Amino acid sequence: MTSHTVYRLVDRNSFRDIKPFEEPIPTINHNEVLVRIRAVALNYRDLIIADGTYPFPSKDQVIPCSDGAGEVVKVGNTVSSVKEGDHVIANFNLAHLYGFQADHSQAQGAGADGVLRQYAVFREEALAIVPKSANLSFPQMASIVCTGVTAWNAFYGNVPLKPGQTVLFQGTGGVSMTGLQIAKAAGAVTIITSSSDNKLKSAKGQYGADYTINYRTTPNWAAEANKITNGRGVDFILDNGGSGTLKQSLDAIAPGGIITIIGFLSPASQADMPDVAMMALAKCCIIRGVLVGPKPFLNELVTFVAQKQVQLPVDKVFGFSTEEIYSAYEYLKQGGHVGKVCINVS
Ligand SMILES: NC(=O)c1ccc[n+]([C@@H]2O[C@H](COP(=O)([O-])OP(=O)(O)OC[C@H]3O[C@@H](n4cnc5c(N)ncnc54)[C@H](OP(=O)(O)O)[C@@H]3O)[C@@H](O)[C@H]2O)c1
Repeated sequence: MTSHTVYRLVDRNSFRDIKPFEEPIPTINHNEVLVRIRAVALNYRDLIIADGTYPFPSKDQVIPCSDGAGEVVKVGNTVSSVKEGDHVIANFNLAHLYGFQADHSQAQGAGADGVLRQYAVFREEALAIVPKSANLSFPQMASIVCTGVTAWNAFYGNVPLKPGQTVLFQGTGGVSMTGLQIAKAAGAVTIITSSSDNKLKSAKGQYGADYTINYRTTPNWAAEANKITNGRGVDFILDNGGSGTLKQSLDAIAPGGIITIIGFLSPASQADMPDVAMMALAKCCIIRGVLVGPKPFLNELVTFVAQKQVQLPVDKVFGFSTEEIYSAYEYLKQGGHVGKVCINVS
C-alpha cells in the first residue's frame, strides 16, 4: 500500500467542509516515526475549528483533530525511544516540550496537521508510549491527549492536588469526565454539574462522581457546593464556562483554592462580569488559565493511567467513512454525550 486516506478541512463553514483525499503515505527522516493511526478522539475545539470560530490560528486545508492513538510501523535510524509495534499517542502541541504553550503553530488539527488520517509522521520526542498493561482501547488512548492532559495540568501544573481534596467539574463533556476519572484515581472527592439529571445519574452511577448538581435547576450551584463541603468551599474547580461561570466558581472556591480556566462555553457580557480582583483577593485563590500541557505532563499522565488502570470515559465510537465522521461531529455538536466521542480509523 502506497497511498492512504487523509481528511482535510477545505473551507470553514461547518464540519461538512471536511473532505477525503487519497495521498501518498508519508516517508520518514532519520529522527522520525511513522504511526498507523488506529483511533481519534474529538474535542469541542474540532467543531469550532471547522466552522471558523476557533479563537486561535488554523492553517488552510488542515488535517483536523489533535487526539490520535496508533501503532508504530517504522522508525528512522536514529530513533531510540520507540520501536515498531509500540502503541503511541502524540502531544497536543508537537513543539510544546516544556513550560507554557507560546507557539500555536504546532498545535495539531489547527496550526499543524492533525490525525484524521490513516498514517502520520512524528518526531520521536512528540510521542509517548502507552504500555499494553494499561488495558486501554485505542479510542481510550486517544482520549488522553487533549482533555486528559488539560485536567492533569489543572491538578498538577501548579499547587498539586492532594488525596481527600474536593474537585468540581462543570458539565459532563470530555474535559469534565476525563478529569473526573483522573481525580477519583488520585483520591479526590468529586462534584460534577450538568444541565441534565440523566447525565448526572450516569456520572454518579457509571463513573462514580461523589456529588452531583444540576446547574440549570440550581443556577446558584456554588451555594450547593458550599453546603456539600460544610461551608469550606471546593479546592479545585475545572471551569469550562469561562467568564459566564466565573462568579459561581469564585463563590464556590475554598480559601487558597485553584480555579483553572479551561473553556469558554458560557461567555458573559462585560456588564455581567464579577469583580474578579476583589473576589480573588477575599478568597486568596488562584485563577489560572491553561492551554492543554507540555509533553512531560503527557508522560506523567500515561504513567498514572497505566498504574491506576484509569478507564478513559468513551461515550461513543464512530467509523472512518466521510458520513460516519460527519455523524461523529454532529453527535458531539448535539451535546448528548457524557465523556468522549471517538472515531475508529482502522
Ligand atoms: N484550555 C484548554 O487547554 C482546553 C482543553 C480542552 C478543552 N477546552 C475547552 O473546554 C471546553 C469544554 O471542552 P470539552 O471538549 O469538554 O467539550 P464537550 O465535550 O463538548 O462538553 C461540553 C459540555 O460542557 C457543559 N457546559 C456547557 N455550558 C456549560 C455551563 N454554562 N456550565 C457548565 N457546563 C456547561 C455541557 O455539559 P452538560 O450537557 O452536562 O450540561 C456540555 O455537554 C470547551 O470550551 C473547550 O474549547 C480547553
